[in-house]
Amino acid sequence: MEFFIDTGDLNEIKEAYSWGLIDGVTTNPSLVAKAGVDQKTLIKEISQIVDGPISAEVISTQAEGMLAEAYDLAKIHDNVVIKLPMTKDGMIACNELSRNNINTNITLIFSANQALLAAKNGATYVSPFIGRLDDIGQTGMQLISEIKDIFDNYAFTTKILAASIRHVDHVKTSALIGSDVATIPYKVLAQLFNHPLTDSGLKKFLEDHAKSMK
Ligand code: E4P
Repeated sequence: MEFFIDTGDLNEIKEAYSWGLIDGVTTNPSLVAKAGVDQKTLIKEISQIVDGPISAEVISTQAEGMLAEAYDLAKIHDNVVIKLPMTKDGMIACNELSRNNINTNITLIFSANQALLAAKNGATYVSPFIGRLDDIGQTGMQLISEIKDIFDNYAFTTKILAASIRHVDHVKTSALIGSDVATIPYKVLAQLFNHPLTDSGLKKFLEDHAKSMK
């Protein structure tokens, strides 16, 4: 399973990349706004840190504008993946970009049918938003499971990118279901290392070692 980091914060990206865990990065307009720099500058800086797919999202809502933005963003680096919203225009843009071998990530996926449409249009990734479904009382993980079954039924090559991950259990369950990628916020990535028995076990080993040295 690949791990992407879901952030526009360069310090978080550098730190998590140093742990050897990060295969790519996802951003969105909210994360770019939080970073406080323009998107092209940010994506260029990320591409100098991480050697892997970097998702950059278009702002236009019409296919023509999406495509103009996409071709501009794709020039930044070969690793740029164009993030398009799951709309009719997003699908039109996805179809053209796929035919031109530009990688795409279809975002704001909340139903299995939406994922099916994206796969049929040649999307490289689909991003089902697990946490936002949980927020409205649905079960985000059920969506990942449904998409996995559909993609397996038809041998689609589109990758499932579990997004809107809020806690470590989302990561574990995505892996159990067989999601290809999880895009994970820094805070959750850092929590993946932890277990109280690891802490207490290590403490005891170090205490016993110290005693044996006396
Ligand atoms: C994914 O690509 C999105 O950037 C992200 O996972 C959204 O997460 P949120 O629902 O926590 O904003």
